[in-house]
Amino acid sequence: MSKIIIAIDGYSSTGKSTVAKLLAKELGYIYVDTGAMYRAVTYFAVQHNLITEDSLNNEALISSLDDINIIFKFNDALGFAEVYLNEENIESQIRTLEVSKYVSRIAEISEVRRKLVQEQQLMGKDRGIVMDGRDIGSVVFPDAELKIFMTASADTRAKRRYKELLERGHNLSYDDVLENVITRDKIDSTREDSPLIRVEDAIEFDNSKMTIEEQLAAIRKLAEDKLK
Ligand code: DC
Repeated sequence: MSKIIIAIDGYSSTGKSTVAKLLAKELGYIYVDTGAMYRAVTYFAVQHNLITEDSLNNEALISSLDDINIIFKFNDALGFAEVYLNEENIESQIRTLEVSKYVSRIAEISEVRRKLVQEQQLMGKDRGIVMDGRDIGSVVFPDAELKIFMTASADTRAKRRYKELLERGHNLSYDDVLENVITRDKIDSTREDSPLIRVEDAIEFDNSKMTIEEQLAAIRKLAEDKLK
């Protein structure tokens, strides 16, 4: 059977990755969380003191890009792929509020985007992939057979992210999480290079009131229709 590319874009914490991961598993496709790649570059920048609240050493980061090797390795026990930066598993380090706070500024840098987009296109060259992010249907795979644009209210999204962070043992306030969600949405959708937009051929999904099972069933049906 021929394989397709499924692009899932949308605002932060819309639950894109949860659905994308399950969908990929059901279809036997590769799943790629492109946000994890931007987070990995951000983690590198934090580690090398290239970014703080009020400074960003663009030039040093750009000239270090060749030293940043990001790969995904499937973890059989967990049932999903984890992200590695230069051989180090950084799956939990990239989910902190500190990385979330800086990541949109890193994702604005065109050189960073160019590198990651190239790598993402390579991962999907044989199709059979579910990829989530902000520019998948618009820039990475404009020819994707199925494009989904996920939305949900900022409050719903912040509550989801807050719960997830608490479960991971992070100690923070709901207001900080909500502020981060709103700020990131603004930067992600207004930046100059590859802003988050809903392309014309994307199907919009407001999942504020949908369970994961409902979302999965609806998207699976759309994928099956494309595969017919
Ligand atoms: O999906 P996420 O919240 O983990 O993504 C983290 C950040 O990375 C997000 O605020 C914007 C950026 N990003 C991007 O610019 N392009 C992508 N394809 C994926 C993420």
